[in-house]
Amino acid sequence: MVSKVVNIAVVGCGLVGSSFLQQLLSIKSRITYNLILVATSEKSLVSDDFKPLELNGNWNETLNTFGKEPLSRDALLAFLKKSPIPVILVDNTSSQAISEYYPNFIENGISIATPNKKAFSSGLSLWKRIFSEREGNGLVYHEATVGAGLPIIGTLKDMIITGDKVEKIEGIFSGTLSYIFNEFSTIKSNNVQFSNVVKKAKDLGYTEPDPRDDLNGLDVARKVTILARISGLEVESPNAFPVQSLIPKPLESVSSADEFMINLPKYDSDLTALKEEAAKEDKVLRFIGKVDVPNKQVSVGIEKYDASHPFASLKGSDNVISIKTERYQNPLVIQGAGAGAAVTAAGVLADVIKIAERI
Ligand SMILES: NC(=O)c1ccc[n+]([C@@H]2O[C@H](COP(=O)([O-])OP(=O)(O)OC[C@H]3O[C@@H](n4cnc5c(N)ncnc54)[C@H](OP(=O)(O)O)[C@@H]3O)[C@@H](O)[C@H]2O)c1
Repeated sequence: MVSKVVNIAVVGCGLVGSSFLQQLLSIKSRITYNLILVATSEKSLVSDDFKPLELNGNWNETLNTFGKEPLSRDALLAFLKKSPIPVILVDNTSSQAISEYYPNFIENGISIATPNKKAFSSGLSLWKRIFSEREGNGLVYHEATVGAGLPIIGTLKDMIITGDKVEKIEGIFSGTLSYIFNEFSTIKSNNVQFSNVVKKAKDLGYTEPDPRDDLNGLDVARKVTILARISGLEVESPNAFPVQSLIPKPLESVSSADEFMINLPKYDSDLTALKEEAAKEDKVLRFIGKVDVPNKQVSVGIEKYDASHPFASLKGSDNVISIKTERYQNPLVIQGAGAGAAVTAAGVLADVIKIAERI
């Protein structure tokens, strides 16, 4: 029997992209994956005749030595359209421009697997174009856009297509904010200050170079937007619902991350008071994204949880999500690493395999 062959084009070879290539080049599968394009923002290797690129463990060196200028998005589309067999574009970037171009790929029969949240959490019109389900459209899988490799989006979609009704989704969706609150607000009370934990997280490399990019809550808002839309709510954008920022107002506009870090201790008292108030009620603070489907409410911010709640005993930088549905009145809870190159890449690769089996 001749095995199925699928062409793969990979854009983005950073942390996730490198791990993805390593996993793709080493899996054993009854489907053959032909790598026909590998690109970063500066270099690209393209197989003009659609024969598999000759890459091994040293693909990085090959890309740096022989890579040419990357194709424009129009040229990439024109190239992929010529593929004689089905093709999957793997977008391992965080590029807004590429994500806005998804409809052009999809409408030309090109499927997409990606951990890039942008396309699914920007304006609702882009979401609708991506999922318009027109005859001949490519497939789109994006499991790793929420909770990295954790099986959240697939599970939620399976519940919905089998007729279950989502009532409430609640979760800790940021590895960074998970770590910060797990250290700051513990079941046994402590004297840890919020600014100290942020500093520790930054020193450990858990935060973005400027921690305000984590503390503004936008990344969580993007993930919650995706889950709300899958659950049937027409959320216009991540700015269309309340998002609590953990950045003190006067520090929003300071010019550098260093200046922000130096001044943050001045604003510890509010969160310390909130933590002490929670401790008196035998509760802890956690930074949560919430979707209440029947009431069409979406929000992101600090919540208090009983010491016995699964969110209270979370460790390290894990993510956790609880999904309450008509069938799962006692909510389904999914927990585990919600970031990291290997688990995220595995989530993307699993999507590639699912697409390849369907096309
Ligand atoms: N890291 C995680 O744990 C994690 C978890 C879940 C989801 N994600 C998502 O996964 C994606 C990749 O994350 P990452 O951590 O791997 O980021 P990264 O290390 O910054 O890598 C990004 C890669 O994309 C390339 N790139 C950027 N713009 C491009 C463009 N216009 N055309 C071609 N290539 C372009 C970059 O090329 P240059 O190096 O040349 O700039 C780089 O190779 C992001 O969307 C992120 O949100 C990451």
